[in-house]
Amino acid sequence: MTDRELSHKRPAAVSRFYYGATYYPEHWDADVREQDPARMAEAGFNCVRMAEFAWSYLEPKEGVCRFELFDRTIEALGAEDIQTILGTPTATPPRWLTAAYPEVLRVNADGVTMQHGSRQHVCPSSDTFRAYSRKITRAMAEHYAENDNVVGWQTDNELNCHFSECHCSHCQAEFQRYLHRVYDGNIEALNAAWGNAFWSLTYRGFDEIPTPAHGKPAYANPAHMLDYYRFISWNTTRFQHEQVAILREVQPAWFVMHNGTFAHIDYRGEFGRDLDFLGYDLYPFFDPDPTHRPLSQAFNLDHARAWTGNFMIPEQQSGPGGQGSYFHDNPEPGELRRMAYASIARGADSLLFFRWRTCRFGAEAYWCGVLDHDNVPRRRYDEVKQLGQELETIGPEVLGTHVHVDIGIAAVDVDVYDAHLPLSLGLPSPKEMAEAIHGFFVKGNYGVGCVHPADDLSDLRVYIMPHWALFKPEWLPNLQAFVEGGGVLVVGARTATRDMHNNVVAETPPGLLQRFAGIRIAEYGRQNSPETRPLSVRFYPSGNRAASQLWYEQLEPLPGARTLARWEGRHLSLKPAVSGRKVGEGAVVYVGAYLTEAMVSALLPSLMDYCPDLAPLWPDLPEDVDVVLRLDQEKRLWFLINNHDMGVSISSLPTGFNLITGQPARVRMVLSKNEVAVIREGE
Ligand code: GAL
Ligand code: ZN
Repeated sequence: MTDRELSHKRPAAVSRFYYGATYYPEHWDADVREQDPARMAEAGFNCVRMAEFAWSYLEPKEGVCRFELFDRTIEALGAEDIQTILGTPTATPPRWLTAAYPEVLRVNADGVTMQHGSRQHVCPSSDTFRAYSRKITRAMAEHYAENDNVVGWQTDNELNCHFSECHCSHCQAEFQRYLHRVYDGNIEALNAAWGNAFWSLTYRGFDEIPTPAHGKPAYANPAHMLDYYRFISWNTTRFQHEQVAILREVQPAWFVMHNGTFAHIDYRGEFGRDLDFLGYDLYPFFDPDPTHRPLSQAFNLDHARAWTGNFMIPEQQSGPGGQGSYFHDNPEPGELRRMAYASIARGADSLLFFRWRTCRFGAEAYWCGVLDHDNVPRRRYDEVKQLGQELETIGPEVLGTHVHVDIGIAAVDVDVYDAHLPLSLGLPSPKEMAEAIHGFFVKGNYGVGCVHPADDLSDLRVYIMPHWALFKPEWLPNLQAFVEGGGVLVVGARTATRDMHNNVVAETPPGLLQRFAGIRIAEYGRQNSPETRPLSVRFYPSGNRAASQLWYEQLEPLPGARTLARWEGRHLSLKPAVSGRKVGEGAVVYVGAYLTEAMVSALLPSLMDYCPDLAPLWPDLPEDVDVVLRLDQEKRLWFLINNHDMGVSISSLPTGFNLITGQPARVRMVLSKNEVAVIREGE
């Protein structure tokens, strides 16, 4: 366990900017492999990740290990100053294991047992599987303990990516034991907490409680679901911890990370604290819209950084991805490099591409690597090589800096995310709403990021909590201190209306935020027909108006709160919709509607009233140019990224030195299509 504070401002604990790719020597013959180290070195690689799916090579028969291929590969790479991150191969347990112990296979909510033949087919609740996981981890760790070319480890691979809700007999028993611990063996306490009076769900003992199967036959109890999701996080964390403990015991000098991020894992909890830093796998082309892709990438990166701070990217898409029935766009010339810079701008302190060379076989035969199937280097290789050369200067510059955030959006609370799932009312999730708000501010060139409410809020001017129905009382003092110190807190409709068990609170909404926000909700409703029964919110004094889409709340301001906007339409006309209350040096703004882009845009002047110097990071940038500031005590690095489909001309620039061109930054600059400037301020 590492005890360094998790914060969106924490730099990743890496000793150099690791740059390279994931590499699968087990897929290739010796004559192809031989050329790899020199070619990687020429591309500026200093790191590869290997072995995370190689269990059947490493341990072809139970207890018989062979390492030759990896030994030789690690050595040949080391001779080119390319270091290795190894993965524990537990996402792909071999056939001898599943054949001897078929009970290790996962079971889905329909009771169907998963089969051998792909990956993530085995359950971490199984004692048998965990024993084998510890054995292979120890065997690999001990074998490489004194190998200087091995610098760190990745635990497993993308835990919970394909499968998380397991219903096998081990999970049933383990879930019951988990609940027994959480509720101190008191079944009445659990019945009360879950509201089991409803639908006769009362249990007589922990051994009667099943893993919940939503919709089989009817809706499951949301409290039962939330505790089950918490169990999955706990169980996954325990599984990982057993590997981490072995790796740290065998060689304390190694770093340990994991490549996320997926459902039902609390990366801000023990899972993340167990690691030196988090890994985040980035696949921008899953967004099918090329014009929207830079925005979704920016959100995904800012969201990833909110868990534990700056991260490594163990896998960034290096070409079109193809699997099953899809095949992504081929990145156009310059796109891979631009997307890599976007990642570095928003918190990547190391970056590996997925993958070195496209494999000719298997389910991912069209997941394109830096090199094609035929091993011929083409434009993707050239781009990766150009970036490798540039990172020799830029890599060391970014280490130790963090991304500057003026506007924080609440994100990455796994309880809040999971509480939404079983009782969403068809409303967008907190994460989807965070993305909508984030997009608005990115387009406006603001310094925006995602920040957990327990994190350091001290640099922020504005903090927006979008519709967090579940709200933890322990966050209140941090939010109060933020506002008293001059921050503006924006609270979206429905916040603080559910408790830690996912039950509705007894107080009038917004529950324990009532006094802080200075309002009560007199009436609320879902808008199912916004076209035929439109409602809009009209702001004063700006006169701005925004159509409300999903939900309305009629506010009742308490003494001390001002009405900032009123409803227009139906029986709500002129009723308060948005309120503001000054607290200390700052203010709390409550918005009784969903914070869509249009709503946030209309709200902005009201925020500026409380926070007059709130401004974009850099003024007057052309459309589709992204600006991000990374800084530390001594240094400010400005990233300007051209996402436009053409070259753009920028007429005002931070004064300094462009690390990409090696030239002083001029007053004016032309950024060609897909081009980037990284300006170190000051010279
Ligand atoms: C990632 C995974 C890789 C590979 C890649 C492309 O999620 O970690 O192993 O599968 O996606 O599909
Ligand atoms: Zn299971």
